[in-house]
Amino acid sequence: MAKLELQNLYKKYSPKVVPVKDVSLQVEDGEFLTLLGPSGCGKSTLLRLIAGLEPVTEGQVTIGDKNVNQVPPGDRNIAMVFQSYALYPHMTAAGNISTALKLRKMPQAEIERRVQEAAQKLELNHLLDRKPGQMSGGQRQRVALARALVRDPEVFLLDEPLSNLDALLREQVRAQMKQLFKEQNKPVVYVTHDQTEAMTLSSKVAVLYDGQVQQLAPPNSIYNKPANQFVAGFVGSPQMNFMTLKCQENTAILGKLAIPLADISNIPNRIILGIRPEDLRLATPEDKYVLQGEVFLVEELGKENLISLKVDDSDLTIRVLLPTDCDWGGKTIQLALPLKQLHWFDLETGDRLGN
Ligand SMILES: Nc1ncnc2c1ncn2[C@@H]1O[C@H](COP(=O)(O)OP(=O)(O)OP(=O)(O)O)[C@@H](O)[C@H]1O
Ligand SMILES: [Mg+2]
Repeated sequence: MAKLELQNLYKKYSPKVVPVKDVSLQVEDGEFLTLLGPSGCGKSTLLRLIAGLEPVTEGQVTIGDKNVNQVPPGDRNIAMVFQSYALYPHMTAAGNISTALKLRKMPQAEIERRVQEAAQKLELNHLLDRKPGQMSGGQRQRVALARALVRDPEVFLLDEPLSNLDALLREQVRAQMKQLFKEQNKPVVYVTHDQTEAMTLSSKVAVLYDGQVQQLAPPNSIYNKPANQFVAGFVGSPQMNFMTLKCQENTAILGKLAIPLADISNIPNRIILGIRPEDLRLATPEDKYVLQGEVFLVEELGKENLISLKVDDSDLTIRVLLPTDCDWGGKTIQLALPLKQLHWFDLETGDRLGN
């Protein structure tokens, strides 16, 4: 029995606004599931259904072995961290962290022990007497995390908890969080639209679009074998390149190249080819499948460059090291096509074709 299970869950606000459509998933103890998707795809709504902050329209939410559809949020033993922190402004950090424990009438000594332990883990000891107005955004965020940790809940729910932090702080808290939740050994459901967070923190990622789960898999499968064109385009930066190609016999035609479509069974008339910018490299004389492209933009990233080029009427971006001390504009370069790293998608449905 999974610790947290959603079965065919729906949320309808009106016939046209259905932000959660037939979502089923399970999260076990110690699993870190991330809900990843663009703004408005239903991530927060799904989290609020699990927390009981919104009634379910259809389907079941199970925690432990109990259906909690009718259980009010306060009785679900869930700790939720909101994007907006939701701290009490008139209380100190220590007061905010311990509120839920006081409500539970936990002995004072145990409350203090838990607050100290969480404060230590999140490096908040010197801030316990401060009120939220006297703390930075990152410090408030860590207080909100500490408040969730001390409760020892059955499930952790986190809604974009790092989105208000600057890039450096986000990296630090992200690393801390990974370790902290590992130690908790409880199911975690984490909402973000940041793919780096999803890839680094999660044991499983559910990519959501328009209220539906597009793919539910470990991060490396999401990246290496995206289930459809939406997932392929959403995960990876810069975005995967897509080209629509005509098919002929068992090949797809790209300029003068006939690319074999070995493991696709019913080959359509036209097909979408996907190539990640990092999978393209400059060709050497040994390469058999070579593309020719005309450079129109070079962006320096420091360690490497993003090169945009025109290939057979399409624009491609590649990520490579190129000397930048000469003007590449208008120059023609040869790229090796990595047959094993190509992705194929159905033109109509966007579904992945082949392996
Ligand atoms: N109370 C409500 N009444 C009507 N529609 C709502 C309500 N709450 C959310 N919605 C709609 O449901 C959809 C999903 O909203 P939700 O907040 O779950 O998105 P999200 O994926 O969390 O987006 P973001 O990344 O911007 O936070 C949106 O179109 C939103 O307008
Ligand atoms: Mg949201």
